[in-house]
Formats: sequence, C-alpha cells, structure tokens
Amino acid sequence: MTKKSDKVLNLLKMEFLSLQENVGLARVAVASFAAQDDLTLNELEEIKVAVSEAVSNSIIHGYDNSEKGIIKVTIIRYEDRMEIEVTDEGKGIEDVDQAVQPAFSTDPERMGLGFVFMGSFMDTLIVNSKPGSGTQVIMGKRIVNNLKN
Ligand SMILES: Nc1ncnc2c1ncn2[C@@H]1O[C@H](COP(=O)(O)OP(=O)(O)OP(=O)(O)O)[C@@H](O)[C@H]1O
Ligand SMILES: [Mg+2]
Repeated sequence: MTKKSDKVLNLLKMEFLSLQENVGLARVAVASFAAQDDLTLNELEEIKVAVSEAVSNSIIHGYDNSEKGIIKVTIIRYEDRMEIEVTDEGKGIEDVDQAVQPAFSTDPERMGLGFVFMGSFMDTLIVNSKPGSGTQVIMGKRIVNNLKN
C-alpha cells in the first residue's frame, strides 16, 4: 500500500446558509477549484454531482428543508488526491450503514441514490453522523496528474 501524502497544496473553505440556491454556488466553487487540475470534463461533472448531492442532503434532510442552518464545504488538494468535506449541524442520521444503501430513503418521494452517486463518482466516501449533532461527509478523489502549469 502506498502511503497517503498529507502535504496540503491548496485549500478552500466555504460556509453558507442552507438555502437551495447555494447548491449551485457550492458546485461552481468546487468545480473551479478542481479545474486547477488537469481533469477531464467527465471527472469535473462527477465531482459537481457528488458535491450537489451532499449539500442537497444537508439542506433537505439535515435541516429538513426549512430550518436555516450552516453548511460548511472544505476542499483540500493533497499531493495524491482531492478531499471534499461537507458538514452540517442538522438532525443527523440514525443508521449510517442503512442510509448509504442503494434506494434507501427516509422520504418516500425520493430515490435514495445520493450516497450511491457520491460513492461511485468519488474514490472514497466516509459518512460520520450522530442523531442530534449533524453529519460530515468526506469524499476523496485520487489524482495522478500534476497541477496545470
Ligand atoms: N445530511 C444529512 N442529514 C440527515 N440525514 C441525512 C443526511 N444525508 C442523508 N441523510 C439520510 O440518508 C438517506 C439517504 O440519502 P441519499 O442521498 O442516498 O438519498 P435521498 O436523499 O433520500 O434521495 P436522493 O438523494 O436520491 O434524492 C436520506 O433519505 C436521509 O434519511
Ligand atoms: Mg440525497
């Protein structure tokens, strides 16, 4: 196993209110940051979807679509990978193992595919959550190319 490098090459932190219109903002900001690397359009699109899904979950589930809470998004470029962390201080998840299962949703109107997209579009997915104290989603993408120029 190759050792993970923890040298930080670049970092962006955002904090915003749980409003639907901020999903687009987070997507664009993360995509602009990620575009400093020589990624394919497809890879960039996948990163955007993963971020949208995580932020949407915080708004819809974490803060029940109504309570205005804080969502934090941090993106860190390490030498060998990119890590995107989405954190809310919302209601949290009762059973994380169950929540990440394909087609599991606590809302009968939804598909239950958000975590599936996050897991398949990124290389690693970690979900830390506790009922009453919020949710943290950490997604990693390995990067082999060097930064542009
Ligand atoms: N930030 C969060 N806070 C609280 N609960 C969450 C959070 N993120 C996910 N969940 C719970 O995990 C379940 C699964 O999430 P997932 O994104 O996979 O599906 P979904 O949001 O229900 O449907 P879809 O993403 O397809 O619209 C949700 O139904 C919800 O119960
Ligand atoms: Mg979802």
